[in-house]
Amino acid sequence: MRIVQVSLGRRSYRIQIGAGLLSRLGADCARLGLGRRCAVVTDANVGRHFAKAALRSLSSSGFDPVLITVPAGEKSKRLAIVERCYDQLAAHRLERSSFLVALGGGVVGDLAGFVAATYLRGIPFVQVPTTLLAQVDSSVGGKTGVNLKAGKNLVGSFYQPRLVLCDLDTLKTLPKREYISGLAEVIKYGIISDARLFARLERALPLLLRRHPATLADVVARCCQIKAAVVGEDETEGGLRAILNFGHTLGHAIENSSGYGKYLHGEAIAIGQVAAARLSQNLLGLSAAEVQRIEQLFVRAGLPVSLRLNPVQRKKLFAALKLDKKVSAGEVRFVLAKKIGVVVRGQRVPPEMISAVLP
Ligand code: NAD
Ligand code: GLY
Repeated sequence: MRIVQVSLGRRSYRIQIGAGLLSRLGADCARLGLGRRCAVVTDANVGRHFAKAALRSLSSSGFDPVLITVPAGEKSKRLAIVERCYDQLAAHRLERSSFLVALGGGVVGDLAGFVAATYLRGIPFVQVPTTLLAQVDSSVGGKTGVNLKAGKNLVGSFYQPRLVLCDLDTLKTLPKREYISGLAEVIKYGIISDARLFARLERALPLLLRRHPATLADVVARCCQIKAAVVGEDETEGGLRAILNFGHTLGHAIENSSGYGKYLHGEAIAIGQVAAARLSQNLLGLSAAEVQRIEQLFVRAGLPVSLRLNPVQRKKLFAALKLDKKVSAGEVRFVLAKKIGVVVRGQRVPPEMISAVLP
């Protein structure tokens, strides 16, 4: 098992990465000294595969767990479902000393994390991420929240888990398209802070696509180390944490303007990262060879790298860009790359240049 520490003073916690870790969930929660009563929040797909094992592990360590299952998909990240979760926690008399387990992908993690952050003004929670995206990104760093009709993630809080348990075995049942979507975040870590990781991904991609256990363990651990270091320096995104948004400004606008669901998150940010690489070439002198390497890696992973927009779609995309949470004083700022492994945040980009990289 690999262990990555997220260092945040009294809110520090471990990320444990390895195969078969779900069976140790109960023992790990016992070590944290958590109260007896708890709830496992999951979605219908994940619950079918893993709820029994999670409940069994908790019960055999002396916990008294209840299961809360929400529908699968982004539509569960909304306040009505949050309220439904509160009602179930109250009905099962969960108290201040009780805790939640978020068993699922980023949707369940963001939702259950927000419920934990706010029920009784905050109870402990443990992340058990079951998608690649959640293991390398959303389960780490404490961003929790839900969507409003007006936009994604508009209600939420920074609330750190007490433990993140990445059981690599859970990835075996993840649909191929979801797994590949997670690779877009993996590649992002190479671009934003680790040229060696990027080169390793270029070499090891065939193994990664086959979900080769040892390669996966190394890569997930490295991504978590990078995220932990960034979050350890800038928990609430006052500065450095914004580098994690490389490719996301355009990616979110693509998701939003094309209608949620057409592109998975990873697919949209793959297009966003390639566009950001092209902008980086124009504005920061990123070499043509490195732009080519970035584009190639996404293509080889099976991710989209471009989209064609008609005039109506283009208008929608620019409107969506202006709604981005990262807009400050009406101006969209980008994270751009100087070279693979080194990025600069807060870059102004003229709108006509954005248009030019999204033909
Ligand atoms: P998801 O949670 O919707 O999971 C994708 C699909 O895979 C779902 O249908 C789910 O039921 C299914 N699934 C999950 N694990 C499975 C498994 N092991 N086997 C079979 N099926 C499985 O999507 P996601 O990509 O994990 O997360 C996306 C969400 O994460 C978005 O809401 C996004 O806003 C959020 N996010 C949050 C952060 C953060 O820092 N908090 C970062 C990135 C993304
Ligand atoms: N996924 C971006 C962040 O955690 O800040």
